[in-house]
Amino acid sequence: MGIEPKKREGFSSGLAVFFATLGSAVGLGNIWKFPYLTGEYGGGAFLLVYLVCILFVGLPIMFGEFYIGRKTRKNAIGALSQLKPGSAWKYIGTMGVAASYLIMFFYSCVAGWVYFYLFKALLGDFAGITMETAKSQFGDAIIGPLSPILWQVIVMTVVAVVLAAGVKHGIEKMTKTLMPLLFVLIIICDIRALTLPGAGEGLNFLFQVDFSKLSAAAILTALGLAFFKLSLGVGTMMTYSSYFTEDNNLFATGAKVALSDTVVSLLAGIAIFPTVFSFGMEPGAGPGLLFMTIPLVFSQMPLGNILLVAFFFLTSIAATTAMLSLVEVPVAYFSEEWGMSRKKAAIGSAVGIAMIGILATLSVDKNSILGGYTFFGRGFFDWFDYISSNILLPINGLLTSLLIGYCIKRKDLELEFSNHGALNIKVIMPLFYFIIRYVSPFLLIVVFLNAIGVFKF
Ligand code: PHE
Repeated sequence: MGIEPKKREGFSSGLAVFFATLGSAVGLGNIWKFPYLTGEYGGGAFLLVYLVCILFVGLPIMFGEFYIGRKTRKNAIGALSQLKPGSAWKYIGTMGVAASYLIMFFYSCVAGWVYFYLFKALLGDFAGITMETAKSQFGDAIIGPLSPILWQVIVMTVVAVVLAAGVKHGIEKMTKTLMPLLFVLIIICDIRALTLPGAGEGLNFLFQVDFSKLSAAAILTALGLAFFKLSLGVGTMMTYSSYFTEDNNLFATGAKVALSDTVVSLLAGIAIFPTVFSFGMEPGAGPGLLFMTIPLVFSQMPLGNILLVAFFFLTSIAATTAMLSLVEVPVAYFSEEWGMSRKKAAIGSAVGIAMIGILATLSVDKNSILGGYTFFGRGFFDWFDYISSNILLPINGLLTSLLIGYCIKRKDLELEFSNHGALNIKVIMPLFYFIIRYVSPFLLIVVFLNAIGVFKF
């Protein structure tokens, strides 16, 4: 009865490691943020900058988080305390846990809308809708107040149940089944989109290389997106890598995940824009695109309702697997450092997120119940997003790059990344070390100062 220290759980194979980590990276970010921003900021030109950001900031920091997690095999806070005992570095972990909650408060709200739209698609609710009904349906869905709260609670119940089942039987099983399905569904949507008349115009919107739209703001946006996309600065990658297998090639896993995540983003853009253009719609921003335009255009085409179900199902998968990785950060922390059972930690975190997340849900629109409550011009929803994405994530990323670049012995890094000499890292190691010491911190300082408004380009 709990006298023997429990054996720590972990992923069972390289494939499980890949799907779980990809499940974290792929999320709502791919399905509306990426395509929209790419179209908005100059298509191919933005894409190029985004890829540079992934290579020079995202990937190196991801490797850094992998090092911390797999070396210590602990939750985010425990890992840093073990790596640098008695130092203030553990606050990277503390801020990570805080950021994961803050992101969840609004992410669970949007995920609730996605679940609800999947449910509506299954009921055939979108048949024959017009621009007006699409708008009013979305308004009703987000203002509620009961329905969005109910869906948010359903979302958190799913997350809690999967996490309570454990790393192997929960996270691994879910991501290994659902990620391949997500690929199949997105390719079905792509085939349909590409065979519509006028699809070329949509592809043009996404891929035209227009360097004139590539402002400084676009570059900073690309950097921020790279960060959020790869789930960095939250302790997520530290926590997941603490479950990686001993023989996993950390460099290869990071590269494969970043590449596949970018492919999913592109496939999402290819499913969305040709469809939108083929029906003569405006490619509106964010939620409007996902929740109004998509039902409107899909419902007008042959097999539309089946495709709508496929589309919202794949979006639900993406959102859910990303949330598993967000909530695993506090679950691992509370179960390992506070001695709570996983079940209690998962249920406790989910209840806390649902309770505070309701504030986000009720403040999303100016007509929402709490829509009138703003502090310095922002409601709850926007504050949760702003503090996490614009402040905690970049600070955490910067600190991680400084910790790895300057406070860990290069020999120790080499040992871990080469799996104690088993892998040849002669070419990649010096490259990685140079970038994480000089390039990533510099770029992050620029983004951060811009985000808090110290200077604007
Ligand atoms: N990467 C996820 C997405 O694109 C979001 C996420 C951020 C997940 C941080 C975990 C940690 O939606």
